[in-house]
Amino acid sequence: MARQVMIIGAGKQMMKDHVPVVLNTPDCEIVSVVEPDPKSLQHAAETIGCPVFASLEDALSYIKPDIAIVSVPHNQYWPILEILATNHIATLKEKPLSMNEEEGSQIVDLFARNNTYLQICVQRRFSDLYKISKELVERLGEVYSIYAEYNLDLLSLDKKALRWRSDKSIAGGGATLDLGYHTIDLLTYLLGMPDKVYAQLNYNSLPGDYTIDDSMKAMCTYRRGKINANLVVTLIYRSRGEVVKVFGREGYVSVENRGVSLHDRHHNLIETHSFSSKEHEVKNQFNYFLKKVDKRVSLGEQDILQDQLKNMRIIDAIYKSDSNNEIVRFI
Ligand SMILES: NC(=O)c1ccc[n+]([C@@H]2O[C@H](COP(=O)([O-])OP(=O)(O)OC[C@H]3O[C@@H](n4cnc5c(N)ncnc54)[C@H](O)[C@@H]3O)[C@@H](O)[C@H]2O)c1
Repeated sequence: MARQVMIIGAGKQMMKDHVPVVLNTPDCEIVSVVEPDPKSLQHAAETIGCPVFASLEDALSYIKPDIAIVSVPHNQYWPILEILATNHIATLKEKPLSMNEEEGSQIVDLFARNNTYLQICVQRRFSDLYKISKELVERLGEVYSIYAEYNLDLLSLDKKALRWRSDKSIAGGGATLDLGYHTIDLLTYLLGMPDKVYAQLNYNSLPGDYTIDDSMKAMCTYRRGKINANLVVTLIYRSRGEVVKVFGREGYVSVENRGVSLHDRHHNLIETHSFSSKEHEVKNQFNYFLKKVDKRVSLGEQDILQDQLKNMRIIDAIYKSDSNNEIVRFI
């Protein structure tokens, strides 16, 4: 029998990334959609052709699915997750794990207590980009420095343009929590937790009604100070793109958008790889989720959830460092 999937939040990310993947997965069937916005609900009903509901409670009284995919504004997740976990519905939740580390721990505990599988969408982990980057970094000899940058060039962050994402009380944060999440996740994947973090953020660099951080600069050290990393994330002032450079004794690895290359100390290109599109990553992510739900993948293979808790600890430290003007130490 096909697995029954419930869609919660039929916004941009859900309709663009997740719904096409589920519709193209042979043994899955979307049985219901939950979406409070009438226009988005109508669009989902027409695209998917299944029953749609304005509330989760109504959807659950119609059918209890095997799986839920949730993609909503960041402050809306907790009550939804509580209902899903207590109903033992395996859940694929969009990033970030949470608004802050405390909520992240509560979410992880909630699913553990209810013995229900939860996975956070960090689709880049399902491209070989991460795996190959890690292998190339291991060939650098001793690593001493990292430079990471993620930029957007938005003209306005006013709530008319950015909607809920402009409001810190709904989004939890901007450059750091929302845009920086994937870059922080890459650093966590490569290096684990930093030893310490110092950060400075910009708020209200542009005119307009918004309360999120529009830009973030952080300096971190890893491996007892052997590696220092600087991280620059901005929503507003650079052309779009993402770069992570890792420097070691034998050369450097450069991860740029969806490509990775290894150079020696003389800037000679040793090898280069480019990776599949986001669609492919999202598909691999969903297949991994299904295997985990069926317990066809051993738990040790990738501890995505524990890494997401680390991401939240780092993100909290970045905000704390900026607001208290202090270095936040983890060891
Ligand atoms: N993985 C990625 O690369 C990536 C990219 C973009 C967005 N995202 C994440 O996806 C999520 C959604 O972002 P988006 O850009 O699609 O936002 P969006 O505003 O386009 O979509 C959110 C939808 O959730 C609906 N909603 C609000 N409250 C709800 C509730 N209580 N129950 C059900 N639905 C509710 C809204 O009406 C809206 O349709 C966020 O967590 C965001 O960080 C991830």
